[in-house]
Amino acid sequence: MSLMNVNGKNYRAIWMEGTTVCMIEQNKLPFEFSIHYCKTIDDTCDAISTMITRGAGSIGAAGGYAMLQAILNSDDENLFQNLSNAKQKIDSTRPTAVNLSYATTRVLKAAETSKEFAIAEAHAVADECAEHGRLIGVYGNELIKDGFTIETHCNAGWLALVDYGSALSPIYAAHNSGKNIHVLVDETRPRSQGARLTAWELNQSGVPHTIIPDNAGAHYMSKGKVDIMIVGADRIAANGDTANKIGTLEKAIAAQYYGIPFYIAAPMSTIDLDTPNGKGIPIEERAEEEVTYSYGKDNKGNFHTILTASPGSKASNPAFDITPAELITGIITEKGIVKANIESIKKLFL
Ligand code: MRU
Repeated sequence: MSLMNVNGKNYRAIWMEGTTVCMIEQNKLPFEFSIHYCKTIDDTCDAISTMITRGAGSIGAAGGYAMLQAILNSDDENLFQNLSNAKQKIDSTRPTAVNLSYATTRVLKAAETSKEFAIAEAHAVADECAEHGRLIGVYGNELIKDGFTIETHCNAGWLALVDYGSALSPIYAAHNSGKNIHVLVDETRPRSQGARLTAWELNQSGVPHTIIPDNAGAHYMSKGKVDIMIVGADRIAANGDTANKIGTLEKAIAAQYYGIPFYIAAPMSTIDLDTPNGKGIPIEERAEEEVTYSYGKDNKGNFHTILTASPGSKASNPAFDITPAELITGIITEKGIVKANIESIKKLFL
């Protein structure tokens, strides 16, 4: 049974019904809970790039399912060529989270054996993601003591990882094992994944939390109000350098200054051994309107997009930054907690 529970019903962030990819509509949260249906591979690609589904693990599952849609639409003769074309298209929807190409590569490779094997592989990518999130929770819970305040950035919960989550999974495990904890949720400009998604998830699960402005993390750390910081990852290079949501880097620098343990939580599918260090990780640049406009619901229930910056000014919107390995205390994976260096990371894969 999944951990994700909304209004008394268990869900996953993304799943398949027949040939349709179904996903929780994350752009409408926390205002509306609804399911978005992708009937074609183009619909699924669109849902990934517009962030209807988002977060490294859920993006990976979406990529695997989009490949499955390509399989179901292809004749046997041209299967491999059609799948290679589909992979290219899917991989280009979002460049930073390596889980996307991890999933499409797995399905493409499986197609070399048979169509049936490739279909099973697409489902396995999603199932493993959920299970790895659960195990990350088991290991990460050991780091959290009763009475701890945990700071987190962006959303690395059920929504981002099919189920359970990466950074939030240890928090759920700690809460469910009866520890008295509190979570400081960075709002995470410009898309507000913290204020909208993490806070909503924690609310659904009854985990005590407070949303803090993005620029308040160092302040709380300086006051001794943060015991540990746990964040997710979109890609971890072989040496431990980690790409995560923009703003992670400055939190890691502040955490080191104040002697606060700073952990990355991620499944091994987020580790990219082919990229030696953070310099090789592509950083997605998104539309400037995400910075200059804001979207929300008024008290009459109507949605609005409003300009919140100087009209006509240019804005820049890098979606991720790279935290150097030396700022990371450890990486929580489904196989245990390891140091952020090449030797420890490579040992995980033995
Ligand atoms: O741009 P997003 O919302 O897809 O960003 C990805 C993230 O959710 C975070 O960077 C997260 O911390 C890692 S994903 C489990």
